Amino acid sequence: MQTIKYTFQPHGDERGQLVALEEFNDIPFRIKRVYYMYDTLANVVRGHHAHKNLEQILVCVHGSCKIRLDNGKEKKVVALEKPYEGLYVPNNIWREMFDFSPDAVLMVFASEIYDESDYIRDYDEFLKFVGVKKDDRT
Ligand code: TYD
Repeated sequence: MQTIKYTFQPHGDERGQLVALEEFNDIPFRIKRVYYMYDTLANVVRGHHAHKNLEQILVCVHGSCKIRLDNGKEKKVVALEKPYEGLYVPNNIWREMFDFSPDAVLMVFASEIYDESDYIRDYDEFLKFVGVKKDDRT
């Protein structure tokens, strides 16, 4: 399973670092929503859902965390440890976010506004939605 991780351009100088993210340039879609998670407790796993029609870029702007991506057949874990890295998550991907460091701030750029009806929160329903039989999974 292929995952797309972006390395954004930090504009560093003697004062420090700055990363700028523009829609259609650095972020490959129109940004309709930005949200972020912080103060996530140790051992918490968030997410546990997929989206029918939503693209996202996840950036751990402070601290670190891990993202498990699952297309129904394969899973992959990606670590986000740098504020200039972004993980692209397209639709139809089950995601779980875990291993948050105490100082982690996970920022999400999303292509759509919040719509609960776009969520698939049941894993069996997700497998059905992406047309994967349980026997096909690795
Ligand atoms: P939830 O979907 O449980 O977050 P995650 O899957 O990342 O663990 O969302 C937590 C709460 O926040 C839930 O009550 C819905 C609300 N929420 C919004 O109101 N707007 C948003 O854009 C998001 C992502 C969540």
